Amino acid sequence: METGRREVLKAAAVLVAAPILVGGISGVGMAAESGSAASGASGSATEKKSALDLPLLTKKRTLGSGKFSMEVSAVGFGVMGANYNRGVSPDRKTVIDVIRQAAEHGVTLFDTTQVYGPLTNEELAGEALAPYKGKVAITTKFGHRIVNGVYQTGKLDSRPENIRRVAEESLKRLRVDAIELFYQHRFDPAVPIEDVAGTVRDLIREGKVKRFGLCEVGPETIRRAHAEQPVTAVQSEYHLMWREPEKNIFPVLEELGIGFVPYSPLNRGFLGGDMTAYTRFDSGNDNRNTLPRFTPEALGKNLMFVEILNRFGRPRGITGAQAALGWLLQKDWIVPIPGTTKLSHLEENIRAASLAVSPKEWKELEEALSRVEIVGDRYPAEQQRQVQKS
Ligand SMILES: NC(=O)c1ccc[n+]([C@@H]2O[C@H](COP(=O)([O-])OP(=O)(O)OC[C@H]3O[C@@H](n4cnc5c(N)ncnc54)[C@H](OP(=O)(O)O)[C@@H]3O)[C@@H](O)[C@H]2O)c1
Repeated sequence: METGRREVLKAAAVLVAAPILVGGISGVGMAAESGSAASGASGSATEKKSALDLPLLTKKRTLGSGKFSMEVSAVGFGVMGANYNRGVSPDRKTVIDVIRQAAEHGVTLFDTTQVYGPLTNEELAGEALAPYKGKVAITTKFGHRIVNGVYQTGKLDSRPENIRRVAEESLKRLRVDAIELFYQHRFDPAVPIEDVAGTVRDLIREGKVKRFGLCEVGPETIRRAHAEQPVTAVQSEYHLMWREPEKNIFPVLEELGIGFVPYSPLNRGFLGGDMTAYTRFDSGNDNRNTLPRFTPEALGKNLMFVEILNRFGRPRGITGAQAALGWLLQKDWIVPIPGTTKLSHLEENIRAASLAVSPKEWKELEEALSRVEIVGDRYPAEQQRQVQKS
């Protein structure tokens, strides 16, 4: 335990020194616009200082294997909450600054989707990351029906013509020449997965897409899709309060050499510890408002989870959020994509890639958490029907 703490301090010292080298090492252009990047709520002197104090994320991971593998930063960034589904966001300039600071400090995997907004989240990602074209990967997804910019709630659409249409439109919104990783967002029972994989394979041959991914699918779908077009990564919900993928999905991913991208790695912010039983969510732009785990009763009862994480973190000099992300990072084929609108949280999340916690300590954390009964399902019935399908 004592050694663990010393290692954390050593790692922190290295990381604090690193930003001095950022311009030279990362090569991710300290362009004029990103020089003024850190905006946030405080004054400009503090803003510049916060940006410089951010650590440089140098750890890399490989998602997938062979020709369709992808090297990315060990921690990615989920863009969704910058303007969608996470309640009130800061203004556009501030969230763009946070996204750019992530890119400046070594994050190379950014995740968005056509349906977030809809469309506006891809536009935001495209604008924010335009100065980093070719240096970072923006991943996006198809598979929901959107008509004239309006999401047809609950309607899936993975027909080949729709996949092609989404690809063309996403390329424009993301301002890229090819989509680095194109996921099917939800399994569509009306379209054989072979047709979906085949369409993405054709888009890869045409140079519009580079790699193929799947979200929230079962083992059979993964196998059938992978046989048609190698899958680089599967993206599903996975965190300390939702460990289902370990049972049936992880063995298949390991066998086939497919990477895993856990979404909502902090359980939509809950594991970050900023919520209480009194927290309420914006009914207009926050899907936590509809999730059984975010009712006042569930929030109150589940707080024990956060308390255990904090207790674990305190003697190690790390936050509960860092413990939650560090736990996920134990397997080197996993790359979580936490989302944030705050530079301070970005810093925490980046530093989570360098924790010195032993497997034995992680096991102790798991054991302590296993004694807590989790209250509330992760999705309401309608959304649950769309996930983990074969
Ligand atoms: N494939 C899918 O079906 C699917 C579904 C959902 C999400 N996703 C992807 O996963 C990404 C992340 O998911 P998510 O936003 O649902 O969940 P998340 O990353 O688990 O949580 C995001 C929330 O956590 C807070 N947070 C971030 N870092 C923190 C820290 N260090 N300490 C305390 N709080 C912190 C953020 O608030 P602040 O802004 O205040 O930091 C934000 O509200 C999305 O952006 C999206 O790309 C994919």
